[in-house]
Amino acid sequence: MSAAQNLGTDSVGYLQLNNRKSRSLNGKWGFFADNMLAFGLKRSRNVFEGLKPEEEDRAIEYDIDAFDPISVPGDWNTQKKEYLLFEGVGWYARRVRLSDAEIKAIESGRRLFLRLDGVNYAADVWWNGQPLGSAELPFLPLSFELSAERLQSDNLLVVRVDARRMEHRIPAERYDWFNYGGLIRSVRLISTPPVFVSQAAYHSTRIRSRQGSQAEVDGTYSCSLNGNADWSGCEIELEIPSLQYRARKPVRKGELNFNLKNLPVELWEPGAPKLYESRLCLYRDGQPVDRIRQEIGFKQVECEGTRLLVNQKPAYLKGVALHEERLGAEGGKPRNLRDVRKLLDLAQETGCNFMRLAHYPYDESWLAECDRRGLLVWDEIPVYWEITYKDPRTESIIRQSAVRMVELSRGHACVLCHALANETWERPGRKRVMGAALRAVKRLDPDIPVTAAFNAPYKDGKYDVESVGHSIYEQMDVIGLNEYGGWYSPPLKELAKANIVVGQKPLFVTEFGAAGPVGVSGPKDKLWNLDSQKAIYKEQIAMFERCEALSGWTPWVLKDFRSTLRANGFQRGWNRKGLVGPKGEKKPVFDLVKRAFRKKRKGR
Ligand code: GCU
Repeated sequence: MSAAQNLGTDSVGYLQLNNRKSRSLNGKWGFFADNMLAFGLKRSRNVFEGLKPEEEDRAIEYDIDAFDPISVPGDWNTQKKEYLLFEGVGWYARRVRLSDAEIKAIESGRRLFLRLDGVNYAADVWWNGQPLGSAELPFLPLSFELSAERLQSDNLLVVRVDARRMEHRIPAERYDWFNYGGLIRSVRLISTPPVFVSQAAYHSTRIRSRQGSQAEVDGTYSCSLNGNADWSGCEIELEIPSLQYRARKPVRKGELNFNLKNLPVELWEPGAPKLYESRLCLYRDGQPVDRIRQEIGFKQVECEGTRLLVNQKPAYLKGVALHEERLGAEGGKPRNLRDVRKLLDLAQETGCNFMRLAHYPYDESWLAECDRRGLLVWDEIPVYWEITYKDPRTESIIRQSAVRMVELSRGHACVLCHALANETWERPGRKRVMGAALRAVKRLDPDIPVTAAFNAPYKDGKYDVESVGHSIYEQMDVIGLNEYGGWYSPPLKELAKANIVVGQKPLFVTEFGAAGPVGVSGPKDKLWNLDSQKAIYKEQIAMFERCEALSGWTPWVLKDFRSTLRANGFQRGWNRKGLVGPKGEKKPVFDLVKRAFRKKRKGR
């Protein structure tokens, strides 16, 4: 069974972390790079059975205790020199000992889930030699239930991660970032009561009245419950203690909403992130059976003509775009919260108010951090460049990715918009497939704008996305424009007279920039040096100043990042458009952006 063949998904859908007790399975696992795709097909190579060669009378061609030790979470590429360009199938194996207390808890009715916080790309999972589930859903949490009869004191967990680039996957086969494969996020066991709150999210704030940052709001708290369908005797209570808010209602089915009305709150503002603790308690026959706590914020986002309003005020996005790649000469996926915080600290040094978490969903820790730091967030599914829409598996991955990403992010105060595509080309099926994903997102998070980043060719002295005729342009609430004046087109000398057409909807620049390798100086009118990078930025920022209707701009990109598309002598496998180098070495454009972000804008 392989995820690449059947688009199985995980068994329980999105199992929200919240403050649930979870047992980490992070640390050293055994790893084997199956570049011949030979394992898992017959007994001698069925890694998931965990046989020992010396104990069998027929040749066994693997031994999980002889596998390479590898750290989880983490991509395999940056953990061993020979794995750097490996993009195939990797087998992970580890033993999991369960204590008597853990087993007794399951036997007494509690439930146990294995949660992979995110893999790249597809995962097949076995527990004690039996299939547990499969998913082809990159970068997003996957959960599989472990029923009591599967459990023993010593267990074997095996995960087959398939990182191959394929035409039906998103992104497709070519993209401008590094294909870091593996168990790139944490792995954990989560124990729950028999019936529990699988996910809850506060969303859809509507300001009814406001004085400064004090406001009266309406909003929706959506809850999903998991457990047997007999909800008799079940009630759920929502409490926001510091607002003296408490409401309790009977559970009739697995989904329910609390509709908050005229609640006096302090708004969550970019730069002034007021958060409240909320508590949800599920009762059965009057007894509390499940409790979760969350941090929520009250923020409204609206589109009014070409203006993007945050809490009813026009927003001007001073953004930083990045890849989810840690600082350091090697790159690689962030391994822990410290890696994430270092990148956010660096971004915030620019004075930004907005983060474009580009090109794919990030670990959920980024969202909690941005909630607390008062940074607005653009989250994004990897619908990118050459995507085709003819394969039903592609359509399913797009829709499932959009749903899972929004299930993960919608309860976070920081989220400004959900992005469904980046520079995709006009292809048959684009509008239909993206329309389905958009409707699925709107059902979950109706009041947060949906967006996409578009190219617009430079023509007649301007960038005009609306005139390009993208079939998905109409579907989007907000428009992202990726333009590289001075780098791709037009050349720098023409940039002084270039302009951006905003059209009928809020639009902001989601990418612009130029490569400037650390330490390389040169003539302003020659590419590939820090001086020309700075000259291009100056002209770009002047253009943004000329465009009154623009809702902001976001340099591409915070940090140089690994990309095998970047193969000339200036880049050597890294995209060098960063404001800083791979290790955080600040380039002259870093301070240029910082000064520009400091400028006050009238009316914003
Ligand atoms: C594109 C794309 C980015 C890429 C950038 C570049 O706009 O969206 O993913 O890295 O251009 O050329 O550097």
